[in-house]
Amino acid sequence: MKVNGKPTRTIWLESDGSTVGVIDQTALPHRFATLKLATLDDAARAIATMQVRGAPLIGAAAAYGMCLALRADASDEAIDRAYAVLLKTRPTAINLKWALDMMVAVIRNRPRSERAAAAYKRAAEICDEDVAINQAIGRHGLKLIEDIAAKKKPGEPVNVLTHCNAGWLATVDVGTATGPIYAAHDKGVKLHVWVDETRPRNQGASLTAWELGQHGVPHTVIADNTGGHLMQHGMVDMVITGTDRVSAQGDVCNKIGTYLKALAAKDNNVPFYIGAPSPSIDFALNDGAAIPIEQRGGEEQATMTGRTADGRIETVTVIPEGSPVANYGFDVTPARLVTGLITERGVLPATRDGLARAFPERVNGLRVGVGR
Ligand code: MRU
Repeated sequence: MKVNGKPTRTIWLESDGSTVGVIDQTALPHRFATLKLATLDDAARAIATMQVRGAPLIGAAAAYGMCLALRADASDEAIDRAYAVLLKTRPTAINLKWALDMMVAVIRNRPRSERAAAAYKRAAEICDEDVAINQAIGRHGLKLIEDIAAKKKPGEPVNVLTHCNAGWLATVDVGTATGPIYAAHDKGVKLHVWVDETRPRNQGASLTAWELGQHGVPHTVIADNTGGHLMQHGMVDMVITGTDRVSAQGDVCNKIGTYLKALAAKDNNVPFYIGAPSPSIDFALNDGAAIPIEQRGGEEQATMTGRTADGRIETVTVIPEGSPVANYGFDVTPARLVTGLITERGVLPATRDGLARAFPERVNGLRVGVGR
């Protein structure tokens, strides 16, 4: 996607051929800043502190983290250590383990002298595959948006509600939930996006609103509790969110609050879709209730960060001193509330059978294939 008119990915290999550039997402929307990752610890820190975040981008950053580790030491022990360090950075998105397993599969059985080069090649492929997957999700989801647009009065926009940031910032490029949105907008379909602010870290207000704005997509930021009211008044035509992990039977884990949107959508007959790239599907885990839910520091819940009128970035406390807080990062939406999973291989029912039919090679192993 473009930043100030310039095509930009969220992660790239620097011109020195070894260090890795990323967008520092903690500085947005007030400042566009980039970071250079030079070591395994840099990559692990960037993921854990959410300078890079969003399931597919976490996977891509972990892949490059493995490259940075191998650059320093290509021994078996170093690979094991890098795997363990990166895997524990964030527990919920399965893309992290998926990417690390992909990396280990291409480096483990090689002579040490070849491992780093093979790792950099695979990491670049993982990034390119992510972009191709998201473009395919965009094509399949476009059809859903066009079908709704066809039933609208002339000039009326299709109103899409999204939660958190499953946009290009959460991926290498294009985004999962935003893939269909950008495809529709670029094709001239009139649409408008309701953007949940997504407390406590405000990925919707800070990131989704910023990237939609950069691309010129009409949008409105709403408080997290607004969606149900909008749906009751016919102001939402469809919901599209992303996912951090889809279970084998189609349960969807995503940013905290997604489940409540799914309940409201069901009650109001609003279709509820998930942009679901295949690396986010965990075929080894049947029931979404078993997905590990990240709990982050209470300070994220107790504070808000923003820009003051004179341009300073300040963090203020918004709860009484001493009140306990709980900060659950994700929740699970049961498959029965999901209208469809928009994957790179088409829009699938959120069922074990639907997923297994579309990705037969994944049921018994770890592979990925781009759409058809
Ligand atoms: O905690 P985050 O910001 O990493 O959570 C991101 C989300 O929940 C996204 O919806 C999900 O990772 C899908 S990104 C394409």
